Amino acid sequence: MAEARGIWRWREFPFTSGANNLRLDRLNDKTGYARALKTGLPSPRTRHKKTPMTIETKEVVINFQDVVVELGGQKIYDRLSFEVNKGEFVCLLGPSGCGKSTSLRVMGGLLPITSGTVQIMGLDPSIAWSKIAYVFQSPRLVSWRNAMENVLLGIELRLGPGNKSAREQKALDLLALVGLSKEVKKYPSILSGGERQRVAIARALAVDPEIIFMDEPFSALDPTTRERMRVEIEQIWQKTGKTIVFVTHDIDEAVQLADRIILLTKKPTIVKENIPLPDARPRSLGLPALALHRNRLLQMFNSIESDSKT
Ligand SMILES: Nc1ncnc2c1ncn2[C@@H]1O[C@H](COP(=O)(O)OP(=O)(O)OP(=O)(O)O)[C@@H](O)[C@H]1O
Ligand SMILES: [Mg+2]
Repeated sequence: MAEARGIWRWREFPFTSGANNLRLDRLNDKTGYARALKTGLPSPRTRHKKTPMTIETKEVVINFQDVVVELGGQKIYDRLSFEVNKGEFVCLLGPSGCGKSTSLRVMGGLLPITSGTVQIMGLDPSIAWSKIAYVFQSPRLVSWRNAMENVLLGIELRLGPGNKSAREQKALDLLALVGLSKEVKKYPSILSGGERQRVAIARALAVDPEIIFMDEPFSALDPTTRERMRVEIEQIWQKTGKTIVFVTHDIDEAVQLADRIILLTKKPTIVKENIPLPDARPRSLGLPALALHRNRLLQMFNSIESDSKT
């Protein structure tokens, strides 16, 4: 579903920016026109020639609507609803046991829902598997295959036999993208934890998914490696333009990475809040804006934790 957001963006001139406080509609009257000339901005006439308008669009690729999931006689979701847009980096944040991993299983068609609707790119999850790939907390590499062969395995399992040399080149390119050009022949047993997880990311990218689900992918790594991996995944996301749904219960990780945080309650789970994070990237945790988001989220998290639900 494509939806026009109706935001007119000018490529070269920030007419709507706070910097000059000059709004687009003001250029339509004489005052605005004069002001445009005064500030050195192009006239409306020349502007049309130089800067074609583009409409920013929003395309929903994941639609979770009024979803109820019951497991072992317990209600996990209570009509849970959220959407994810194409190209977004969304963090699912919530307390342990609220159903973050469960949502990935549902979206991957691995777990049936009790009621509601889930759609992946307009398709039922049971037939949308080719659109998605997973990165888990543990890299789940095959020990008798080296880094490149592990990446190739992802392609072979998904797509069957194919052009060997083209695939090898693709695997090499992806290993380069995740910073492992020199480790392609190494086996999982000698790769570091961060390197193993990078192979898992390359393997996920190798099948050209539209959406990558990541379930606490860095939580088993040491703090320094985790910090580095966050920077790297952000760069990979920017380079590839994939949609990423990233599960975490780490507030710092969420505020550093997300375009939007979907904060979940305890079970039976609903969305507590959708929190957009428009802050520029890359984000250092020391930035005042991030500290504000962090403090607000901490308060919300504490209120969720002290909630009497299970
Ligand atoms: N097959 C199952 N049968 C019964 N209950 C289940 C089953 N699978 C998951 N659950 C329950 O569903 C709830 C959500 O589990 P899930 O793994 O999605 O939580 P989570 O938010 O990912 O937690 P964490 O942050 O600890 O990873 C938990 O209470 C779990 O015990
Ligand atoms: Mg989990």
